[in-house]
Amino acid sequence: MNFSSRVPKGSLIFAPMEGITDGPYRMAIEEAFPEWNYLSTDFLRIPSQGVYSDKKIMDHFGIEEKLMPKALKRTSYQILTTMKSSTATHVKRIRALGFEHLDLNVGCPSKKVNGHLGGAYLLSDLNSLSHIVREIRNNFDGVFTAKIRIGYSNDKDFYSILKLLEHEGVDAITLHARTRDQLYEGRADWEYIRKAVEAVDIPLIGNGDCWSLHDIHAMFQQTGCHAIMMGRGALKTPWMATLYE
Ligand SMILES: Cc1cc2nc3c(=O)[nH]c(=O)nc-3n(C[C@H](O)[C@H](O)[C@H](O)COP(=O)(O)O)c2cc1C
Repeated sequence: MNFSSRVPKGSLIFAPMEGITDGPYRMAIEEAFPEWNYLSTDFLRIPSQGVYSDKKIMDHFGIEEKLMPKALKRTSYQILTTMKSSTATHVKRIRALGFEHLDLNVGCPSKKVNGHLGGAYLLSDLNSLSHIVREIRNNFDGVFTAKIRIGYSNDKDFYSILKLLEHEGVDAITLHARTRDQLYEGRADWEYIRKAVEAVDIPLIGNGDCWSLHDIHAMFQQTGCHAIMMGRGALKTPWMATLYE
């Protein structure tokens, strides 16, 4: 399955946001501002014990049945997982339920999540990251993307992370241009997005501090990224995609 045919170059993507971008919210955005090219669920935490029911997996997506065919084409389903979690089992279930695009969360900076060795923690443990990515790739034949930051405490593994993801068969990468330790402080450094675009041959989605129409044009121009993902800016100005042509 081809990423670029789902998310064409120049697309604007509404970012995953826990507690906000659940099913009803995404349906409202689709209805009011269909100019957003693509939407994202927040993360489903894959358990280390037991297996989620199909209902739990469907409920996380949270879309009414009659709207599902359209939503499946325009939405990524995000998971957050660890070495201890039953990743393969859940990824197979998610695919069997008809989800076409799986996104791996490698950016969540929460202390609790990182303490359980998930989210942005994986940026500091490339062996675990490559194991998990391979496990997903081997068990999911749809579009598979990863959402990362530039590193955990610093950028020392920036290129290794990008190359690892590309090598293991990820279809596209979303880069929030901050380290984990920066949380949401300062300004995202878009130079890392430009460097990432140069470093890999798969589509790169730029993310971080895109707040205005001016920022959208500037990020595309400065970085050459394939698409832009907007989080807080999209919340603040949900009609932003209608202004961009
Ligand atoms: C309230 C909130 C919840 C978030 N939840 C998630 C999440 O579930 N998964 C994820 O990958 N990123 C999550 N993020 C990060 C955003 O997707 C995005 O990467 C980050 O906000 C930077 O982009 P922005 O500057 O456009 O907001 C969240 C951000 C916020 C503000």
